[in-house]
This record gives sequence, C-alpha cells and structure tokens, in this order.
Amino acid sequence: MARYRIAWLPGDGIGVEVMAAARIVLDALGLDAEYVPGDIGWEFWRKEGEAFPQRTIDLLKGVNAALFGAITSKPAKAAEEELSPALKGKGIAYRSPIVRMRQLFDLYGCLRPCKAYPGNPLNYKEGIDLVVFRENTEDLYAGVEFSPVPQELRDLLLRLSRPFAAFKDTPLDQYAISCKVNTRKGSERIARAAFEFASKAGRRKVTIVHKANVVRASDGLFLDAAREAARQYPGIAVDEANIDALCMWLLRNPFNYDVILAPNLYGDIISDLCAQMVGGLGLGCSGNIGEKLAVFEPTHGSAPRHAGRNECNPLATILAARMMLDWLGEKEKAARVEKAVAEVIREGRVRTYDMGGKNSTTEMGEAVAAKL
Ligand SMILES: NC(=O)c1ccc[n+]([C@@H]2O[C@H](COP(=O)([O-])OP(=O)(O)OC[C@H]3O[C@@H](n4cnc5c(N)ncnc54)[C@H](O)[C@@H]3O)[C@@H](O)[C@H]2O)c1
Repeated sequence: MARYRIAWLPGDGIGVEVMAAARIVLDALGLDAEYVPGDIGWEFWRKEGEAFPQRTIDLLKGVNAALFGAITSKPAKAAEEELSPALKGKGIAYRSPIVRMRQLFDLYGCLRPCKAYPGNPLNYKEGIDLVVFRENTEDLYAGVEFSPVPQELRDLLLRLSRPFAAFKDTPLDQYAISCKVNTRKGSERIARAAFEFASKAGRRKVTIVHKANVVRASDGLFLDAAREAARQYPGIAVDEANIDALCMWLLRNPFNYDVILAPNLYGDIISDLCAQMVGGLGLGCSGNIGEKLAVFEPTHGSAPRHAGRNECNPLATILAARMMLDWLGEKEKAARVEKAVAEVIREGRVRTYDMGGKNSTTEMGEAVAAKL
C-alpha cells in the first residue's frame, strides 16, 4: 500500500491540463502515493444535478490530502438551463463545490503564499515574499442571505437595530441582506494558525486586516481575537491595517508586509492583489486547510477560452502540489519542487504564453520535472 492516498480532482477545462502537468512533476519526484481520481465539476452538474457528488465527498473522507484543478460555475439561471432535460424544472439549485467542500470539511484556513521568483517577467517587483492567511468558512461567505427579505426578518431587525429604520419603507423584494457572521472560535483559530506559521517559518511580522472602525461588531470581534492570539507570540511583531488602506500600502511598499491575516472577504481580495504582484493567475496557488483534510489548488478557474489547447501555465498547480508536499511533512521533496520551479523561471528558456513564451502546459511540467 502506498504511504499517501491523495484525491485527484482535475475538474473542468484547463483544470485537467494543469493537473496532468503537475502529475509529471509528482511522478518524477517519486512520491509514494496513490492518486485516486474524483468526480467534480460542470459535467456532473449537467448529468446528475450535483457538481460535487456524494461519492467524491466520501472519497475525501478517506484521503491524506487532495489536489484540485479548477471548475466551471455559472449563475443560477444559466446553470438550470444546462441541466439534462430529465433534471430540469425539479428545483435543483447549483451549489459551489468549493464553498461546500470548505464548509463540509471545515477547511477553515486558506493559505496563499505569494512569492516573486527571480527572473519572472510578470513580477511587480523582485523580492516580494508574502503569505496571506484568510479565514475560509465564515464572514460574508457564510451563505446566510435573503433576497427578497422575509417579513419576519424585517420586523425583527426593525425592533433590534436602530440603523435598520432607514430601510423600513423599502418593499421586501427591493433589497437583499447578506449576513457577515464571524465567530470567536473561527477568528481565533485562523489567527493562531497565522502566528504559529510565522513563528515556525521564521517570519518577522503579522499584519491583521480589518475595518473595525465601520464594521464594528464582526470585524471588532475578529480584531479582538487576533490581538489575543498575538499576545501568545511575543516574538512576532504585529501591526493592524484597514482593508482599504492596506490595498494602497501593499502596492506602494510590499516589503513592509510579511504574513497577512484577514477575515474571509478581505482575505479573498488581498490574496488576488498579492497574486497579481507575483505573476498572476498562472502562478497563484492556495491551500484550504482543516484539522483532518487539506485541499490544494491553483487559484485560477477553468479558463474555457484556453481549454483543450494545452497552452496554460501549470506552475500554479505545481506550486499547489509543493504546498501539499509541505503539509504532508515531505519537506525535502517540497523544497526540491520549489527549487526546480525557481530554476525554470530564472533560466527563462521554457515559458507559457502568459509569461511571454510559446511553450505548452506539458512542456512546462516536463521542464520542472527535468530539474528535479
Ligand atoms: N477555483 C475555481 O475552480 C475557479 C476560480 C475562478 C473561476 N472559476 C470558474 O472558471 C470559469 C472561468 O472563469 P474566469 O474566466 O473568470 O477565470 P479563469 O481564472 O478561469 O480565467 C481568466 C483568464 O485568466 C487567464 N488564466 C487563467 N488561468 C491561467 C493559467 N493557468 N495560465 C495562463 N493564463 C491563465 C486566462 O487568460 C483566462 O482567460 C468560470 O466558470 C468561473 O466560475 C473557477
């Protein structure tokens, strides 16, 4: 029996191609693993009315980790239209497999390393090396939403919240409510994960991101929990920044930052900003980390325009595989993959279109594998 059981979830579009390239690297590395394919994505939504079938959920219950490519998703109406005729009109609603996966397996931390590998023509500045810790299951993404607003909820809010009086004359179907739900437990554990990482990885500072001056209740709680975690790590410097100001300062001087800790929505935004500074979608990777399972993925989607052309950059997926190796405790193998990626980028002989080259997805995978 292999040492690791890894769920292999290519998904849709270029997800299939970038995962195949990552596999070339993992195979060359000789990881003692069994890769178990899992069904996920648009094809399963259309045929079965479920983009994340129960059999894939069951598979994830019995693996050490998962590597995930990308999926296609569409707004509710378009999704309904593409269902197979037998499933249409049955009230089946599309649910995002990624959001469900995070919630079902309590993958509470989203870890996004953003490193400018020397020589990458897409680097905003050389030397950027940031890590974003984003809370992954709560906040505005908790899914507690109302549109139209139920009368009961409106009556209750009118009774409990003075600012809500501003909406008392708006018809129920003319506004929507999305609840930002942050818990102390959820905030504490992501904060602890960020400080623990900083202390183990020899990082100097954690920046806590919030907007607690305006969003007093939920961001106030997050900030309070993060400050509490900071007190447990006196060796790590701490600062705090409002989300809006941080976006500006990050661009002005990314070297002022090191580890960035944020609730879900702000973390989502900052992660993309940071990813763009170090090469964009072709290089951005992330880990969705829980107590029992971790799922690693490139941050890009299925890029339908490029699907089937073997032209997209697989480095994001290869770097996601590196994160997975690291998380499994395969530190030496993880370091080899990173070194190989860095060498291929520095030499600049093999580049996909986004980096200004003409090489294929497969050739990029092979180039990294050859450096191992
Ligand atoms: N995690 C996910 O699976 C995920 C994330 C984002 C979007 N999506 C879904 O993917 C589909 C397409 O969405 P989109 O077009 O907005 O975003 P996308 O990330 O799929 O692609 C946007 C553009 O970025 C570039 N790009 C993306 N990945 C690249 C790579 N590896 N190498 C080079 N260039 C790359 C391409 O120019 C592409 O057209 C939608 O159905 C969307 O819902 C899925």
